[in-house]
Amino acid sequence: MAQALELVCVLLLQGSAQAQIPIQCANDVNLDSGECCPVFWGDGSPCGKDSGRGTCQQVVDERAEAGTVDFRVRWPSYFFHRLCVCKGNYGGPDCGECQYGWQGKGCQKSRVVVRRDLADMNAAERQRFVNALHKSKVTLSKRYSIYVSESSVPNSRRSFQRATAFNVANWVHYLTSKTLNQANQLHFAHRSTAFPVWHRLFLLFLESEIRNVTEDDTFFIPVWSWAGKSNCDVCTDDLFGNSGSDGGLTGSIFRSWEVCIRP
Ligand SMILES: *[C@@H]1O[C@H](CO)[C@@H](O)[C@H](O)[C@H]1NC(C)=O
Repeated sequence: MAQALELVCVLLLQGSAQAQIPIQCANDVNLDSGECCPVFWGDGSPCGKDSGRGTCQQVVDERAEAGTVDFRVRWPSYFFHRLCVCKGNYGGPDCGECQYGWQGKGCQKSRVVVRRDLADMNAAERQRFVNALHKSKVTLSKRYSIYVSESSVPNSRRSFQRATAFNVANWVHYLTSKTLNQANQLHFAHRSTAFPVWHRLFLLFLESEIRNVTEDDTFFIPVWSWAGKSNCDVCTDDLFGNSGSDGGLTGSIFRSWEVCIRP
């Protein structure tokens, strides 16, 4: 299952650049100016400056010289050199959200999310979890768009591809797993000490994308503890599905999932 979800089939042209970009900045004007300081809806000012949430600042001296480095190395300077720098626990591209682990109007109340074990959740709770995952797989992300360019030269033909919330997260995972152009061995999130830390953050990202499209702020990703288990007790039709003889799923809602992000 996990492996199937990680499979994103995309054709990547040599030297091309593709990345997730906040929707507010996914346009030629922002990319050309190198600035991504979206207006916070709550007060109409860039980065929520008027509410003391953050300010638009130069974060790198200049944009990374296109084509000379892999655009992930000094993320996001390949695209932007001016960004919202949020104060306190404010977060998000426009400082309009709270950072993970915080809530409330001023983002000063800590937020503890209990990751329950799937095994302890009743049928209705499991169904809710599966439905939320599915909704994120079929609903376009309201926050990110995927930048697609046929080459890493800045003014080459580029476009923005909307993707579903789950696929945006999937894309992030995929991008991170791609090796660097120059140093083939380096792998950002896997096969290294970064694995647990990177994936913790990744799951928080996925969780927040799911909360956003389901409009369910109580959604959480449960844990599955396999300790002492000799078979896959979540490989059932009401959860992740069982493998048939052809390797496909015999049932479950995930049977309908497409695992390719299509250009
Ligand atoms: C989802 O994200 C969009 C874009 O940031 C925002 O306008 C909207 O209010 C969010 N919805 C929820 C339910 O958080």
